[in-house]
Amino acid sequence: MEFFFRPQSVAVIGASHSPSKIGHQILRNILSYGYKGKVYPVNPKGGEILGKKVYRSVEEIPGDVDLAVVAVPAPLVPEVLESCGRKGVKGVAIISSGFREVGNRELEERVVEIARKHGMRVLGPNIFGVAYTPARLNATFGPENIQKGKIALISQSGALGIALMGWTQTEEIGLSAIVSVGNKADVSDEDLLDFFDSDPETRVIVIYMEGVHDGRAFMEAVRRNGKPIVVIKAGRSERGAKAAASHTGSLAGSDLVYDGVFRQVGVIRARTVRDAFVMARALSELPEPRGENTVIITNGGGIGVLATDAAQEEGVKLYDGPDLAAFRRVMPPFGSFRNPVDITGMADVDSYMGALEIAQANPNIHSMALLYCETAVCDPLELAEGIKRTYDGRKPLVVAMVGGERTEEAIRALNSAGIPAYDAPEDAVRALKALYLWKKYRKKRSKQFADTQ
Ligand code: ACO
Repeated sequence: MEFFFRPQSVAVIGASHSPSKIGHQILRNILSYGYKGKVYPVNPKGGEILGKKVYRSVEEIPGDVDLAVVAVPAPLVPEVLESCGRKGVKGVAIISSGFREVGNRELEERVVEIARKHGMRVLGPNIFGVAYTPARLNATFGPENIQKGKIALISQSGALGIALMGWTQTEEIGLSAIVSVGNKADVSDEDLLDFFDSDPETRVIVIYMEGVHDGRAFMEAVRRNGKPIVVIKAGRSERGAKAAASHTGSLAGSDLVYDGVFRQVGVIRARTVRDAFVMARALSELPEPRGENTVIITNGGGIGVLATDAAQEEGVKLYDGPDLAAFRRVMPPFGSFRNPVDITGMADVDSYMGALEIAQANPNIHSMALLYCETAVCDPLELAEGIKRTYDGRKPLVVAMVGGERTEEAIRALNSAGIPAYDAPEDAVRALKALYLWKKYRKKRSKQFADTQ
């Protein structure tokens, strides 16, 4: 699996001279994202593309080829794969569509057979590519730039995966990898789970899935995995399941079965893509809470109540203790030191920082949600700077900020500093919920794994 993510050399087979074609775009992305290994365009027409000498066949390339990205029409793929096999290519990512997803099973089986014969692994077919940010490898035809981070995204949907590449960029969500799995003819979710489990650059794995090929193998792979796995499982409804079946040919199965299995093996299920990243962001940045007591600090009663509702619904425990009276020091007499701690609309940056310091210093408090409504007395960007300065990183802190453009900018500033910040109090609470859920699942997983040994 190494060769898909940390190859020393990459060949793009079907690298086109025409900038509008997919093979050209993949080559352009590889070159522009800053990949440091060797890059070889392959096209029988020869010549030069984007300043690179073009080889007429992969076998003409002088050095070794670890990864070949194949973007030629499906009927040409077997012949290209034979050539890759003779060359000794290690991994092949097949972009081309036109296989099992359109009923062309035979062609897909032939491709796998050829790969097995030569000891190559196949990613796809029917994929948009693979990217691994620590190696500055963007072998996709998605957006050129990908923000570096600790979340690995595995997508069974092509177009959605590409869209998420752009979306994560604007939302300041950092990725370690993005992998399109397409028809999963050879490389499976399980292979990728194992790879990312051992990858020091990945802290959380997010999967967009429509179905699994081998339920038992998936369960085993999750059990032996030591990292949080967040799954967006599409096809929840009966009609959605039918749509999934015609999209990727997945047997969606009963959604209740998936739900039960996820819970049994400790997979965090997200209802929406947004939800998945709300949770993944916190899981990738924050430490595990030592205990269950959460404190909400707010300058607005309203969002405090919304967050409290969400906490109750999500099962996030709000702390009640006499030591909460310490918060009195940072609020006017009409504030409330009961949880949610309301430091009132008069709160400025100093009041927030005072409250944050009190929460950080109290060993009975295990996680903190800091909420903010934009006011003239507390500038959001100054607040973000204050949080960055004051937060000591020892227990989880999530932030929710509601307001206008400056508030949005403050949210981005916090996120790029690794402090999860959201534009809704419910999201902040759900992020904490994910941390508590993962703590429970981590223990459950290692116990189940030990039991199977
Ligand atoms: N070796 C190397 N290059 C070759 C070979 C060969 N044996 N044979 C032909 N080529 C060259 C062609 O000459 C061409 O280069 P040129 O433009 O310089 O002449 C290049 O390979 C591409 O071949 P075309 O026949 O022009 O094919 P095109 O680029 O139109 O399409 C593609 C190829 C992209 C693989 C297409 O068949 C396909 O499958 N598209 C769908 C891809 C896709 O959507 N995948 C799923 C992604 S996820 C999602 O849903 C978004």
